Amino acid sequence: MKKNQNVVPKELIQGKKSSWLRSIIKSNKTLHRFFYKLLRCNRYVWILRNFWKDTDKLFSYISIETCPICNRKCSFCPISQDKTPKRLMTNELFDKIIRELKELDYRQEIILSLYGEPLLDKRLEKFTKKIKVELGSRVTFFTNGDFLTTKRFRKLVSAGVDLIVVTQHDPEPSETIKNLFSQISSAEWKYISYKTIKEDSQILTNRAELVKVSTLHPISCILSLVIVRADGSVPICCNDYYNEVNFGNVNQKKLINIWNSPFYRRIRNKLKRGIFNLAICKRCRGVLPSKKYEA
Ligand SMILES: C[S@@+](CC[C@H](N)C(=O)[O-])C[C@H]1O[C@@H](n2cnc3c(N)ncnc32)[C@H](O)[C@@H]1O
Ligand code: SF4
Repeated sequence: MKKNQNVVPKELIQGKKSSWLRSIIKSNKTLHRFFYKLLRCNRYVWILRNFWKDTDKLFSYISIETCPICNRKCSFCPISQDKTPKRLMTNELFDKIIRELKELDYRQEIILSLYGEPLLDKRLEKFTKKIKVELGSRVTFFTNGDFLTTKRFRKLVSAGVDLIVVTQHDPEPSETIKNLFSQISSAEWKYISYKTIKEDSQILTNRAELVKVSTLHPISCILSLVIVRADGSVPICCNDYYNEVNFGNVNQKKLINIWNSPFYRRIRNKLKRGIFNLAICKRCRGVLPSKKYEA
């Protein structure tokens, strides 16, 4: 038995609600690879799944990057190469986004992370409370877990966080995570989803050629997700680290006007039909598999 299975409950690894079929598939590496390639990496399956989606309607997920700074430099993350100084999202911008979401009567999920480590942002609890009071949305975020002490975890849960996705990037869980998992009660497990990502993980994307990974080309576009970076810019997707395709800035424009701009609408409409002709899409390992990327 691997060491981390002593501290991390088995059902928590790779998501709690794994069906029996999923568990069988995942237990066999070849079977898993086959289904993963078929369902996540096949352009035609992707088109079939998305063709009928109404990409003109309001987004159903918003990712707000309040903290673009990170304590780690994972080799598979563009943060590891970026030396430009980064700033936290301003309180004014965060408040503007929430105000606008309220005007839209938005109540769907809010993810308080993108790149960077959200737990470095001391305002996370305050932001969560604000979302809960103003919108009542489900609040989640991704973290490397390095600062997830039991005290912080409980503060976040009392502020209203619904789910914390902890990713283990090292071979073993950190001491902080081991402590947390040994201290939380059975009722508190529902607030945590735990996954492990290694450099050779099949689910890693090449971030449109910003990082080198040896994976199975997952297609990672989410057409119903809008992203607001810490500086207010709205990029095309979570692989667009440098905001290469920037639809506007929420500091200057209303988020809804950016979302409904003809250019953004046209791109979403093309993507759902499998037309990936932007330069960034052509470099994204998921959509245009070429010999160069074959594992
Ligand atoms: C970019 S991180 C930011 C939040 C936090 N710092 C963390 O590591 O969880 C969000 C999630 O993306 C995953 N991730 C990092 N690099 C990735 C890549 N190249 N492809 C796919 N997912 C990646 C991380 O493992 C993590 O689960
Ligand atoms: S994956 Fe997360 S922990 Fe690793 S460098 Fe990127 S933001 Fe930081």
